Amino acid sequence: MLRACVIGWPVEHSRSPLIHRYWLKQYGIAGAYEKEAVRPEDFSAFVASLAARGYVGANVTLPHKEAALHAAESADEAAVAIGAANTLWLDPDETLHASNTDAYGFMTNLDEQVPGWNAGGRPAMVLGAGGAARAIVHGLKEAGVSRILIANRTRDRAEALATEFGPHVTVVDWEDRNRNLSGCGLLVNATSLGMTGKERLDIDLAALPVDAVVADIVYSPLETELLAAARARGNRVVDGLGMLLHQAVPGFERWFGVRPEVTPELRAHVAASLGGA
Ligand code: ATR
Repeated sequence: MLRACVIGWPVEHSRSPLIHRYWLKQYGIAGAYEKEAVRPEDFSAFVASLAARGYVGANVTLPHKEAALHAAESADEAAVAIGAANTLWLDPDETLHASNTDAYGFMTNLDEQVPGWNAGGRPAMVLGAGGAARAIVHGLKEAGVSRILIANRTRDRAEALATEFGPHVTVVDWEDRNRNLSGCGLLVNATSLGMTGKERLDIDLAALPVDAVVADIVYSPLETELLAAARARGNRVVDGLGMLLHQAVPGFERWFGVRPEVTPELRAHVAASLGGA
């Protein structure tokens, strides 16, 4: 029986088991997907013992994503560029590989939800400069977005990201986020603001073109205040659940040998666990 897991601290909140167990059942695979709560100080030892524990691979969530990249013997281009990994797998010879599928998940979902989203070639604004923002900036850059504006509460973090990702990325002050929306074709919230239990995202969309796309990485609630405000003024919106579902695809394929599909039924299954539709 093939076994994989999600490693986090805490890990209880992870929606990954719901997704992977759904697919295991759907494709009739005799596999298992577990939750593993692992303290930061125990992470390397845990990963070193993946095979001994009977795992063929794992998803990695907070706070282990950087450590996962460093623990692996090889890493794909996205993981190296983003500086973090969320997916690990073992070769038959037990070599550990790392990948970051967050950029893939975000971009695949964006392409699927809003085909032709980049048609105007306009700038994109990304709010945030953490791990999620890094993945999204990487994805947008790879997709050919030539101007990416980053606004982050802590300007230094945005500057560091811009320095690393190069001339496509421009930092704007967090205080100037509203007026810099003018002319943008895409706005992405890559902060945790607006998530249930966190502070609200304070943003005024007045300057954003009404034909721009607004995406949120927050999926709890599914319809964030940002998405509701964007929808109300006519913008096309993309919620965070699609990214969560799509980022899971490459790992499942690696571990269990079937490329799974993100279907409306899977979406409804996971959305039900969020208390929404
Ligand atoms: P992740 O890896 O999931 O992106 P993170 O590294 O903690 O998580 O990043 C969270 C993001 O939300 C950051 O951009 C953070 O801004 P700072 O870099 O200034 O910390 C942003 N964020 C969190 N709380 C915020 C708040 N109250 N106001 C503005 N931005 C906030």
